Amino acid sequence: MDSNNAPEARLRAADERDYALFARLFLELNTGDETPSEATFRATFLHRMRVFERDGATIGMTIFDKLPEAAYVRIIVIAPEHRARGEGRALMNAIATVLRAEGCKTWRLNVKRDNSAALALYKRMGMRVAYESTAFNLFWSQLDALQTSASAERAVVLAEREDEHVERAWSLPTGQLAQWRARPGNFLLRVERTSDPSDLGAGFVRFEPAFPGAFPLRVREIGSARTLLEACLAQRDLSKDYVRLVVEDNEPFARAMYAAGATTHMELFHMTGSLVSL
Ligand SMILES: CC(C)(COP(=O)(O)OP(=O)(O)OC[C@H]1O[C@@H](n2cnc3c(N)ncnc32)[C@H](O)[C@@H]1OP(=O)(O)O)[C@@H](O)C(=O)NCCC(=O)NCCS
Repeated sequence: MDSNNAPEARLRAADERDYALFARLFLELNTGDETPSEATFRATFLHRMRVFERDGATIGMTIFDKLPEAAYVRIIVIAPEHRARGEGRALMNAIATVLRAEGCKTWRLNVKRDNSAALALYKRMGMRVAYESTAFNLFWSQLDALQTSASAERAVVLAEREDEHVERAWSLPTGQLAQWRARPGNFLLRVERTSDPSDLGAGFVRFEPAFPGAFPLRVREIGSARTLLEACLAQRDLSKDYVRLVVEDNEPFARAMYAAGATTHMELFHMTGSLVSL
């Protein structure tokens, strides 16, 4: 079937009855992460999820986060029985239409480096690899093996008034930090150096104890990752003895993670593209 001649597709907001669909399609992402429980689905994913339908049939689902000028596509899945017929492209085009109508100019996403189908799709949509990143699995017991900071510093809660500066320092889209802060169970911390407390670019982390994940975790000096992770440790979910953390575009930091005994969970590309010239 050529989707160009197919019955019209639409994106609809998900509702509570879509948990079974979410759980089935989440597995298709093959992330190795636990399928979120129904309670987590309701709290974290439901209001962001959209179901892709054609002629009343469910074709796939997506979750994307819209910021004032940029958007992050978090999940896109076409159900296995509908693949390789142009539905992935149709879904991406439907997302782009929504985003453009809301004023977004760029979009971005993370994709596993070995996911050739998704890579082909995103390149077809004009997206390009901006950088490589690695998602690590670190047991909290391995944290002691990570080098400490040479500077006197501590982790402090990132204040709202600091968002703009930190977003600029780490090339995050405007509004990203406020969006994370608003999510239940998210902690935003930054590094404060004794020598220069006004320096807002030494490092920051978003920590989600329930996942448990540290993403993003950006640091100017590797030792600051230990400072931030120790603060995360204090907030951890005691039933989880590990944390998933993502090292983005920072090879020395990735090497330090391996040296500490962390293992690779996923190797990713970060891709970005224009919605204007699409
Ligand atoms: C990735 C995914 C959404 C693609 O959906 P799809 O409906 O099969 O894709 P389409 O038919 O629209 O194909 C889009 C492009 O990708 C290419 N493509 C699709 N499957 C491919 C494959 N297995 N290998 C290589 N290229 C592939 C197509 O040739 C097409 O390119 P073209 O327009 O130049 O011909 C689908 O495979 C999927 O849901 N995978 C599991 C979940 C997943 O990995 N999501 C992405 C997470 S980042």
